[in-house]
Amino acid sequence: MHPFFLLLCFFNSFEITTSFPSKANLSNCSLAFDCGPLRNLSYPFTGGSRPAYCGPPEFHINCVNDSPELSISSLSYRVLQLDPVRRNLKLARSDLWSSTCTDKLFNSTMESQFFAYNDSDDMDVSIFYGCNSTNTTPKLSNWFHCNNNLAFNNSYYLIGPVPLEPILSTCEIGITVPILKTTAAKLVANRSLFQEAINEGFTVNYTNPYDNQCAQCLGINGLCGFDSGSSRPVCICGNRVCDPAGIFNSL
Ligand SMILES: *[C@@H]1O[C@H](CO)[C@@H](O)[C@H](O)[C@H]1NC(C)=O
Ligand SMILES: *[C@@H]1O[C@H](CO)[C@@H](O)[C@H](O)[C@H]1NC(C)=O
Ligand SMILES: *[C@@H]1O[C@H](CO)[C@@H](O)[C@H](O)[C@H]1NC(C)=O
Ligand SMILES: *[C@@H]1O[C@H](CO)[C@@H](O)[C@H](O)[C@H]1NC(C)=O
Ligand SMILES: *[C@@H]1O[C@H](CO)[C@@H](O)[C@H](O)[C@H]1NC(C)=O
Ligand SMILES: *[C@@H]1O[C@H](CO)[C@@H](O)[C@H](O)[C@H]1NC(C)=O
Ligand SMILES: *[C@@H]1O[C@H](CO)[C@@H](O)[C@H](O)[C@H]1NC(C)=O
Ligand SMILES: *[C@@H]1O[C@H](CO)[C@@H](O)[C@H](O)[C@H]1NC(C)=O
Ligand SMILES: *[C@@H]1O[C@H](CO)[C@@H](O)[C@H](O)[C@H]1NC(C)=O
Repeated sequence: MHPFFLLLCFFNSFEITTSFPSKANLSNCSLAFDCGPLRNLSYPFTGGSRPAYCGPPEFHINCVNDSPELSISSLSYRVLQLDPVRRNLKLARSDLWSSTCTDKLFNSTMESQFFAYNDSDDMDVSIFYGCNSTNTTPKLSNWFHCNNNLAFNNSYYLIGPVPLEPILSTCEIGITVPILKTTAAKLVANRSLFQEAINEGFTVNYTNPYDNQCAQCLGINGLCGFDSGSSRPVCICGNRVCDPAGIFNSL
């Protein structure tokens, strides 16, 4: 066997093929960042001074005018609170923040391995848009006007299970949005507080599926990062990607 080939094999077992940014300062993954109410954020979260390669893209926080925003299943959420110890987030939909009239007519779904509702805290509200209730007067207390380019302007929200209301069968589309159960009780007491209820947010717990790899990386004083090109966690030693125990390359 040619000695050069052996040399190549030797290096291959240590070098990791990666599309990781080669000119970036990888040590920057040691930085924490602040955004609005959130302070000292670190792995798995990225954003601000923490470059995107310092954590999985699912945990990337976009700091928009001091408001931390997280994207989940193509919807954007405002992060109101973040508890890294209990791994809880309090989120509110960005598109419903200043008005409950939205043109993003999608359910708030958390179907991912990263985020899940906390069923002990949250419950669903349904919002119906484009309802033909032109002739219905007086307006119900859960009614609101919404001109979101549907054929009709009338909207309703409902807390909990959806009954077979005749009005609702005239609605073009319905979406579900979680709110806190404690908030729902306040909303039942005063139906005008719908916007406030949405803005109080709901809780989700989060899981980082790369926790084990990260723990092993920290064990050798590395920094945890993520290569979104290959969708793999990486370990950073000094200013390069490393894999001392072979845990990352064998994924
Ligand atoms: C890394 O951080 C330094 C300051 O510590 C900054 O000047 C540099 O722009 C950062 N590099 C990247 C790629 O974020
Ligand atoms: C890389 O980032 C680290 C930590 O942010 C910083 O201390 C160091 O000066 C940076 N190195 C370069 C070459 O920018
Ligand atoms: C920031 O968080 C790190 C752990 O991630 C902790 O060691 C440090 O004390 C915190 N700093 C502040 C100012 O809270
Ligand atoms: C939202 O979910 C409900 C069931 O939970 C479903 O009936 C409705 O069609 C969904 N809406 C959209 C826009 O997908
Ligand atoms: C949320 O917590 C529940 C209960 O502890 C757990 O079964 C579930 O895996 C967690 N989901 C996430 C995404 O963290
Ligand atoms: C809307 O409702 C009115 C009164 O109930 C009815 O006459 C009309 O046909 C409905 N329009 C559509 C497009 O369904
Ligand atoms: C929607 O509401 C506006 C005024 O608020 C009204 O001018 C318009 O005719 C309404 N459109 C429909 C389709 O009902
Ligand atoms: C319901 O909330 C609205 C908005 O905060 C307030 O103006 C109104 O007085 C409240 N009504 C009752 C009965 O508490
Ligand atoms: C759900 O929320 C409750 C109350 O805030 C909390 O005690 C519990 O730990 C949470 N569960 C998960 C899985 O985060």
